[in-house]
Amino acid sequence: MDHFLYRDGALYAEDVAISEIAAAVGTPFYVYSTATLLRHFRLFDEALEGMDHLVCYAMKANSNQAVLRTLAEVGAGMDVVSGGEYRRARAAGVPGERIVFSGVGKTREEIRTALEGGIRQFNVESEPEMVLLDAVAQEVGVKAPITVRVNPDVDAKTHAKIATGKSENKFGIPISRAREVYAMAAKMPGLEVIGIDVHIGSQLTELEPYELAYQKVADLTETLRADGHKITRLDLGGGLGIPYERSNADPPLPSDYGALVKRTLGHLGCEIEIEPGRLIAGNAGLLVSEVIYVKSGEGRDFLILDSAMNDLIRPAMYDAYHDIIPVVEPAAGVEMQPMDIVGPVCESGDTFAKQRLMPPLQSGDLVAFRSAGAYGAVMSSEYNSRPLIPEVLVKDDQFAVIRARPTFDEMIKRDTIPEWL
Ligand code: LLP
Repeated sequence: MDHFLYRDGALYAEDVAISEIAAAVGTPFYVYSTATLLRHFRLFDEALEGMDHLVCYAMKANSNQAVLRTLAEVGAGMDVVSGGEYRRARAAGVPGERIVFSGVGKTREEIRTALEGGIRQFNVESEPEMVLLDAVAQEVGVKAPITVRVNPDVDAKTHAKIATGKSENKFGIPISRAREVYAMAAKMPGLEVIGIDVHIGSQLTELEPYELAYQKVADLTETLRADGHKITRLDLGGGLGIPYERSNADPPLPSDYGALVKRTLGHLGCEIEIEPGRLIAGNAGLLVSEVIYVKSGEGRDFLILDSAMNDLIRPAMYDAYHDIIPVVEPAAGVEMQPMDIVGPVCESGDTFAKQRLMPPLQSGDLVAFRSAGAYGAVMSSEYNSRPLIPEVLVKDDQFAVIRARPTFDEMIKRDTIPEWL
């Protein structure tokens, strides 16, 4: 559920009309709902009630400072994957002891930054990373708390570009080699082994892959304990999917997922961490755009918007579906027409939807992409020299620009022309 609803025929974000924000900031823009962000965070927090746990929001989904602060204030931890994300989390007020560091390519500098600034744990993904982490921890004079990310070789049944738990993926250490890797870690003076980490993919719409993976983690916990390791924390990754297409069967709820965690891992007495990104931020955001032209082609009509693949890359990159709805609610019984919905970028891939049934729209009308709060703004670029679009946060009847649209001058001034030119 989200807080973007029609009221008297007009689309609202909580208690603010989308048209009012459009008039104030211009299109296109992203808008996020505080109530939806908080609601989704709490669903996870409540799903794990009764277990010692921390929900570490995967901030790669949406790392705006205001979004991070909103979640941090209600106790969220953060899952970070770069030195930049670590700094963003700290700048938003998240203490180091609530930050976990994931990712296959942590650099020496990133490791040092996190060790010096304070960190809950590193999720280590390879032996060479372990060696470097051990060395840097000794240089800094601390013990680095670690889990080892194991790759359980489970099919997450999601888009190939966002599946991470099969043996052919670059992530984690094969679970078959976990015992030797833990034995190696236990001998390293700069490391303190505290648990196991697993993340099998994103936009999962079934619980079965989780069940398979978590059973393997439960078995591994017992094996490693028998080997003499202290396993007290399990990081279970993120990945629970959201309903992009409202007509489709809904993915499982956080409460179903929580029950699965308790059933498969509850008996181990471990502290549980989860790293949801999309389910917290995805349906908490819209991308709002204006129709520039309605163009008649041969056998098809095009709705040309002022947003493009550089603003929301998911359709071009993953063939992702996003609901696109008019900001003025169509009258009941209005005739829908199939339209190709495209942006102004000079590539045919700049297509948001093909033959999508839409009510009649004209130049100047506003439309909103649903489920654009996760992997939207964070994946945007300035391709075709289109400035990054603003982000707006709504809370009840207030709204604030939380990232401003740069001017063309600011964009151009970031380049420098060498003196020989
Ligand atoms: N933890 C780890 C280690 C991850 O790699 C990810 C996502 C998450 C947690 C959060 O997954 P989520 O709950 O958001 O599904 N750009 C793609 C999604 C990439 C996901 C990468 N890793 C998209 O737009 O669909």
